[in-house]
Amino acid sequence: MCGIFAYTGKKGKEAGGVLLDGLLSLEYRGYDSAGIFMPEAGVVRAPGAVAELRKKIPKDFKGKSGIAHLRWATHGEPTEQNAHPHSDGSGEIWVVHNGIIENFKELKKKLEVAGHEFKSATDTEVLAHLVEEHLKTEKSFEKAALAALNEVRGTYGIALQYKMEPDKIIAARMGSPIVLGLGDGEHFVASDPSPILPHTRKVVFLEDGDVAVISSDGHKIFKLDASNVHRATTDIDWSAEAAQKGGHEHFMIKEILEAPEVVVNTLRGRLIPEKGLAKLGGLESVAEQLEKIDRIIIVACGTAYYAGLVGEYMLEEYAGIPVEVELGSEFRYRKPVINERTIVLGISQSGETADTLEALREGKRHGALTLGIVNTVGSTIARETDAGVYNHAGPEIGVASTKAFVSQLVALALLTVFLGRQRGMSQSEGEKIAQELKSLPQKIQSILDRKGEIEELAKKYASVRDFLYIGRKYNLPIAYEGALKLKELSYIHAEGCGAGEMKHGPIAMIDEEFPTFAIVPKDSVYEKMLSNIQQIKARKGPVIALTTEGDTEVASVAGDVFFVPETSEMLSPILNAVPLHLFSYYFSKANGYNPDRPRNLAKSVTVE
Ligand code: M6R
Repeated sequence: MCGIFAYTGKKGKEAGGVLLDGLLSLEYRGYDSAGIFMPEAGVVRAPGAVAELRKKIPKDFKGKSGIAHLRWATHGEPTEQNAHPHSDGSGEIWVVHNGIIENFKELKKKLEVAGHEFKSATDTEVLAHLVEEHLKTEKSFEKAALAALNEVRGTYGIALQYKMEPDKIIAARMGSPIVLGLGDGEHFVASDPSPILPHTRKVVFLEDGDVAVISSDGHKIFKLDASNVHRATTDIDWSAEAAQKGGHEHFMIKEILEAPEVVVNTLRGRLIPEKGLAKLGGLESVAEQLEKIDRIIIVACGTAYYAGLVGEYMLEEYAGIPVEVELGSEFRYRKPVINERTIVLGISQSGETADTLEALREGKRHGALTLGIVNTVGSTIARETDAGVYNHAGPEIGVASTKAFVSQLVALALLTVFLGRQRGMSQSEGEKIAQELKSLPQKIQSILDRKGEIEELAKKYASVRDFLYIGRKYNLPIAYEGALKLKELSYIHAEGCGAGEMKHGPIAMIDEEFPTFAIVPKDSVYEKMLSNIQQIKARKGPVIALTTEGDTEVASVAGDVFFVPETSEMLSPILNAVPLHLFSYYFSKANGYNPDRPRNLAKSVTVE
């Protein structure tokens, strides 16, 4: 998830200033490097956020048009060299891109054979070279761009500019949002309307497969097959801040609603369903070593720790490897028993959490192979671990980890298939997991489509000051996660508990005022969970239950029920996490709090 902004105008505005100001309002989309190209001035790129780029811009960097970008790295470290815009060999065609070009390796090989030399490790650079290649035969920038886009597979939101036609910018959308801004004598391209709104409120949202050409005078839109298409103009009445949140009230709900897309992005290019295999490029360099490992220690904090607990069930059941999960803050003070056949696996959204980082360093000091499941490319954990898997969930702005958690679980399922197939997992087992993983986005969407039901539940229980969450096996960590989210966003007492453990103490708390959220999918511990719910009912405790669609028994014992689509036991935590995240969001709102800014908490915990 990167930010794109492009401008062309004849109103005498200084394009450099317009572009830099626009990038600032896109900073929530990515902030590891930034860059700007203007045909009349050249290119400037810098690692870091917009402030770093601004420092590098020379005084005479002036022009009437240009393209600019904020990067959230997916391929290649966040260095100046990998920052966008990227150019072709001649330095005349420039591109900024948001998304992933899936066939970039094969395109790159073909272009290298044709004599193209590449300067960066990004997938994006191939686009500029591809346009250059087509320009040799097409003799028209527009036609060459169209021919190049027809060769590309994957997702993109792009803006392209050609030095010889400085007033013109070509934009295209496939899976990554692109919006045009229609001004008087000036036109814009952006990832969302926020950088456009200070200039005009008239915008056109492109649809997948649309290609647009803007100039200072106007715009036209056509499809990849070159046929013309009309897209309606929208008058935006949101504020710039609301535009960053895609019109949603908070980043948290925007990020929860991104879950289906996040699963697609985490899985992209990593499954070979017909062979029941997972392909994890980030582990290729250590694949042989992984065949020999006999123990995994997962280290993480908070929500990432709960993802690790789910991973423990997955990896032990399907890959047959003993797993321990440790809080980063505890592991770093132990005297761990580790040898060269032990992996220490850190899970972290930010890749900067001090306790997780120190735990990994401790593992390394003891000779373990260190791996990371990390969302932030180029973060300290990503750099310091021997190998790893990136989440590709895009930047998470809300303090509460939601979409990152979903993507951590998906990455752990991929790792399970990867390690499992190196061991005893059969091809058909691998195929089954792969098929089920592929069906998750649509199942999550069906949960999100019923978010109103969860909102009503949250309002109903909003005045409650204590909450118990119970689950078993794969969904015990989801009970912990539900409770953590409720307490961090609503400042009430919430506790996650193994359902079988209640009778050893926690059940003493239950009365009419003390509700329980029970996670009861139709799985191997379903009957046990039903008995546990009966025990709560016998003490007059109210029960909200999450269960599988089609179930009738849970509804007969629980006061409130939310139905979740059926999936395998191993993947059920991925679906069950979503309604719990929604519940904590709406509960916080119903209590008048801002779920994006919970008190006393920070997004990245870089201190002990
Ligand atoms: O960036 P990390 O994934 O390493 O962060 C770990 C925890 O600090 C984080 O998950 C925290 O618990 C969240 N506030 C939970 O919503």
